[in-house]
Amino acid sequence: MNRRDILVTNALPYANGPIHLGHLLGYIQADIWVRFQRLRGHTVHYVCADDAHGTGIMLSAEKAGITPEALIEGVRQEHHRDFQRFGVEFDIYHSTHSEENRVLSGYIYERLQAAGKIATRSITQLYDPERQLFLSDRFIKGTCPKCKAPDQYGDNCEVCSSTYAATDLIEPRSTISGATPVPRESLHYFFRLPEFTAFLSDWTRSGVVAPAIANKLSEWLQGGLQEWDISRDAPYFGFEIPGAPGKYFYVWLDAPIGYMASFKKLCEERGLDFGAYWNAGTPTELWHFIGKDIVNFHALFWPAMLTTAGFKTPTHISVNGFLTVNGQKMSKSRGTFITADTFQDHIDPQTLRYYFASKLGATPDDLDLNLEDFLQKVNADLVGKLVNIASRCAGFIHKGFGGKLAASDGEAALTLEFQEAAAEIAANYDAREYAKALRLIMALADKANAMIAEKAPWTLAKNNPQDPAVQSICSSGLNLFRLLVLYLKPVLPALAAQAESFLGIAPLCWDDAGTILLDHSIKIFAPLMQRVELKQVDAVIEASKSSLESAPQDSPGPLAKEPIAAEIEFPDFAKVDLRVVKILHAEQVEGADKLLKLTLDLGADANGKPVTRTVFSGIKSAYAPEQLIGKLSVMAANLKARKMKFGVSEGMILAAGEGQEIFLMTPDGAAKPGTRVT
Ligand code: 2FM
Ligand code: ZN
Repeated sequence: MNRRDILVTNALPYANGPIHLGHLLGYIQADIWVRFQRLRGHTVHYVCADDAHGTGIMLSAEKAGITPEALIEGVRQEHHRDFQRFGVEFDIYHSTHSEENRVLSGYIYERLQAAGKIATRSITQLYDPERQLFLSDRFIKGTCPKCKAPDQYGDNCEVCSSTYAATDLIEPRSTISGATPVPRESLHYFFRLPEFTAFLSDWTRSGVVAPAIANKLSEWLQGGLQEWDISRDAPYFGFEIPGAPGKYFYVWLDAPIGYMASFKKLCEERGLDFGAYWNAGTPTELWHFIGKDIVNFHALFWPAMLTTAGFKTPTHISVNGFLTVNGQKMSKSRGTFITADTFQDHIDPQTLRYYFASKLGATPDDLDLNLEDFLQKVNADLVGKLVNIASRCAGFIHKGFGGKLAASDGEAALTLEFQEAAAEIAANYDAREYAKALRLIMALADKANAMIAEKAPWTLAKNNPQDPAVQSICSSGLNLFRLLVLYLKPVLPALAAQAESFLGIAPLCWDDAGTILLDHSIKIFAPLMQRVELKQVDAVIEASKSSLESAPQDSPGPLAKEPIAAEIEFPDFAKVDLRVVKILHAEQVEGADKLLKLTLDLGADANGKPVTRTVFSGIKSAYAPEQLIGKLSVMAANLKARKMKFGVSEGMILAAGEGQEIFLMTPDGAAKPGTRVT
């Protein structure tokens, strides 16, 4: 077998919020792969860091009354602790605000400039005259220029999905100071990305990303690339651009360079050869694990920067989908916005590793953490199947045989079947097809349990605890258990370590699949994992809800965000014909981020003919289509039909809130569709 030398990275989380289960999906996926490769005897360096720059972090620090440096160091330590608790063990957990990153970012920028890939020109942006800084789209809100919905962000409208420039907003305001932004010109630095179109078209088709991702990239490439604005004006928390006083690198310029910087620091700590992992043409591998929302940065800008600066491009970019909980986006009010810290307060983190692995493949699909299914699966598989084998066998070995396993294997055929499965399990781990690997492993666990149930050593031991058949069955059972533990070791490292100590063996590596334990003494068995109870899951949900309640200072109430609109006369209100409707059908809208297409039952007209309406509603972030079917709600029925990007919307359904906190308005009881709402 060829020995591989691999540098693995995970996306660098922003230093301005806690690690939550949505983050953990990608980190656990990468950590399993790293552990597997190491078990196989390959060399892996696994690095990460906090992504510490940007306006958001600067403002958070200001609000907290501390320096950005103090803020990011505190958050870095919390993030690192959270990852460790979930068994995600980086060789280094650094920060993008480091000397290594400053030097490397400056170096790469100078190489880009020397290659003629940096352009400069003045652009006009909105500026907060009170706070005296340029405002990115997320710090500007105003009324949508298309549908006139109030309180929309500077880049797109959550109500009608239209996209626009912040300068098009009606009555824009700075969300930082409340001031009316003014247009202002300043010089910006751009990376000439369009010059890399041919290179990127080839590179993205060379197997470095999954086919689904390559297709998405090819859409972008065909649509035409834009020059990338890599500078931000002071005040900004980041690195000043060499030779450009008052101009800073945009956070996304130095974030991926943070991968290199973390590794540079590791090289200094461990005497490793930095160039062997980054110089063009070296035989080592470079793997990035990222979420699907940041593919453009990693598969377009990043390889173009690397290749221009004389470094190698990534070997592979592994992309994971988003996490939903109980079929919906994580929601603070439902208690499903679960932080790593809250989860581990109540539930063994290994169970989450197992559940994610049991559903992960190599494609960037979204993964649902269904909490009922989670309970059922981890209890059935880990406690009911895996640990059960050891707990059924160990006692008899101690009672009748002084803790010693038999000198020969009475179940050699079954053992061989287990051993022969190692190759297929390994191939699946290597291909990041963890769900398939775990299905194979659990099918083996079923066979081990079936063998023990059929041979029923407890019946034999009743007559004679020293019956050699009891020793033989239980020794075989424990050997099968040992193989299962080995196969699950990338997913369940803590359980594997406990099992190794119980079996009295050195840490298992993949080649150990070829051996078995004969005439070998084991230690006393102590339970390796407890069942997860429903009350633990409930406690996580409750704690997640209350952590929201305990942080009111961060979130002004809805009235502060959106004051009550100007007074109207009753006849104005009476013009709106509100009716009860029943949702007959709900479906996703291809290409729309926020909309669902709803078919509404409005009751029957004067001739008894059923009246239905098609409405596009921006509630996708909070509801899955299947949850809506059959529900009652209220619609503005006399609203003039509007042509939207995805079709004509015949009215509007009423809902409160925004983002992940949207609540559909429903009548309190079984009001008939068509009933007027007064
Ligand atoms: O999207 C994010 O959370 C970014 N902080 C990821 C950065 S990954 C890398 F480029 F640093
Ligand atoms: Zn709009």
